[in-house]
Amino acid sequence: MSDLATLLEVGGPVAAIGGGAAYARANHPGLYWSAVGGPISTVRLLSSYASVMEACGLTVAPSRLRVLAVKATTRREVRPVPPRRGIIRPTSTGLRLRLRLAPGQEPADVAASAERLRHAWGVHAVYVSTVKPGVVELRLVGFDVLRKVRMPRKTEGGFLKVPVALREDAMPFVRDYRAVPHQLTLGATLSGKSMYLRHLVSGLAPQDVALVGVDCKRGVELAPFASRLSALATDPDEAAELLPVLVKEMEDRYDLIKARQGIAPSTPNEEITSDIWGLPGSERPVPVVLFVDEVAELFLTATRKDEERRDEMVTQLIRLAQLGRAAGIYLEVCGQRFGAELGKGATMLRAQLTGRVCHRVNDEASAKMALGDIAPEAVLAACAIPAERPGLAVAGDTSGGWSRIRTPYLSLSDAADVCRETAHLVPDLPALKPFRPYVPVPLPSVERPGPAVQPRPLAD
Ligand SMILES: Nc1ncnc2c1ncn2[C@@H]1O[C@H](COP(=O)(O)OP(=O)(O)OP(=O)(O)O)[C@@H](O)[C@H]1O
Ligand SMILES: [Mg+2]
Repeated sequence: MSDLATLLEVGGPVAAIGGGAAYARANHPGLYWSAVGGPISTVRLLSSYASVMEACGLTVAPSRLRVLAVKATTRREVRPVPPRRGIIRPTSTGLRLRLRLAPGQEPADVAASAERLRHAWGVHAVYVSTVKPGVVELRLVGFDVLRKVRMPRKTEGGFLKVPVALREDAMPFVRDYRAVPHQLTLGATLSGKSMYLRHLVSGLAPQDVALVGVDCKRGVELAPFASRLSALATDPDEAAELLPVLVKEMEDRYDLIKARQGIAPSTPNEEITSDIWGLPGSERPVPVVLFVDEVAELFLTATRKDEERRDEMVTQLIRLAQLGRAAGIYLEVCGQRFGAELGKGATMLRAQLTGRVCHRVNDEASAKMALGDIAPEAVLAACAIPAERPGLAVAGDTSGGWSRIRTPYLSLSDAADVCRETAHLVPDLPALKPFRPYVPVPLPSVERPGPAVQPRPLAD
C-alpha cells in the first residue's frame, strides 16, 4: 500500500509536468522554448560543441605552437581545433552565436553542415549568415515560427519600409520600397496575396505616402481601405483612365527635378539631383505606391476595341515600372499567373518588377514566372507550399537569395480601421482628386425606433 502511495506521490507530479510540457510544446511553442527547449539546447551546444564541429568536418589541424603548448602542459591527445565561438545569445525564438572561421574555411562550409548541426543540438533549424569577412552568425531557431506567426516586438520599420511578414529564421521580412521599388506577388487563389497587400496598406497608411489602388475584382479587396486611398480603380475601364494620370504625374515630377537641376550653372554638385529624394523637403512630392490586385484582368480582352485600351494600359504600366522610381512612384503588382500567355508586354513588365514573392501555386510554371530567375530551389520550395498554410510564400531577396516567409493574420476590419484612423493623412494630389473613392459615412449606432403605429392583424 505504501509503495502505491509513494508511486502516486512521485509519479503524479512527474506525469503532470510531462503532460504540461507536451501541451506547451504543441500549443505554446514560444513558452516551451523559453522554459524547456532553450536551456536543454544550450546545454547540448556547450557540452558537445567541439565534438559536433569535428563530426561535421568544421575543424582544422592545430597550429604547431598549440601542439607544443598542449604537449608541454598536459598529456592529452592533441585534437583538431573548431572555429572560435562567441557567447551564446538567447532570443525568444532560438539562440544566436558567432563563429570565427579558421583560415581556409568559408561560410558555405558551415552552411553545408546546418542540417547536421540542427540534429546535433535538437533545434528546428539552423541558419548561417555572414557578419563580416571571417565571421559567421549561426541562428538556431527552436520551433516552427511560421506555424503561428508573431512578429518580433522590435521590428525595424521606417519611412517606406514595412515589416510585412516573418521569415523562417525568425527575422522580419521588410518590404523596403527605396531598396526594391517594384514587386510582383504571385499565388493561386486563396494563397494569401490579398493578406500580403493588406499588411502593406496598413503599414504604409500612417506614413506620408499616397496610396493608389487598382482592384479589378470590383474593389472587394481594396475598397475597405477607401478612406486612406488617394485613388481607386475597380475595373479595367477606370484603370484605363487612372494610369495615364499617373504617367502624367510622373512626367511632371521629372520636369520638377529638371527645373531644380537647371537652377544655375554654379549649383554645387550635391544639390543636383536625379530623383525626388534630392529635392528639398518643401518641394519634394509625396511618394505614390500603386497597388494592382489581379493584374491579369488588365491584360484580358474580349473585343478588338478592348485590345487598344489594353495595349495602352500595359505600356503605361511598363513606363511607370521603368521610370517611376526616381519620381517616387512604386508598383506592387499581385496576380495568379504572370506569363507570356497574357500577351504583348507581359514579360517586359515582369522583368521590371525586381522584388518577387510567390505564394502557393498550382503548377511549377507559375512558380517559375515569379522565381525562375532567382534560384531553381526557390521554385521547388514554392511548389511545396501546402494549401493549409495560407500566407506562406517564398520571397526572393535583393542579394539573389531567397527565404520562406509568412504574413501574420490581420483581419480586413482591423486593416480598414487603420485606414480610417489615418484618413487625415491622405496627401493633397490634385491630379488624383477625380479618382478619390467614395467613402460611405458610417451610420450612427442609434437604436431603431419602434413602429409609430402598433401593427394589428387584419381580421380576427
Ligand atoms: N498569413 C495568414 N494566416 C492565416 N490565414 C491567412 C493568412 N493569409 C491568408 N489567410 C487566409 O486565407 C484566405 C485567402 O487569403 P487571401 O484572400 O489573401 O488570398 P488570395 O490569394 O488573395 O486569394 P484570391 O486570389 O482568391 O483573391 C483568407 O481567408 C485569409 O484569411
Ligand atoms: Mg486576393
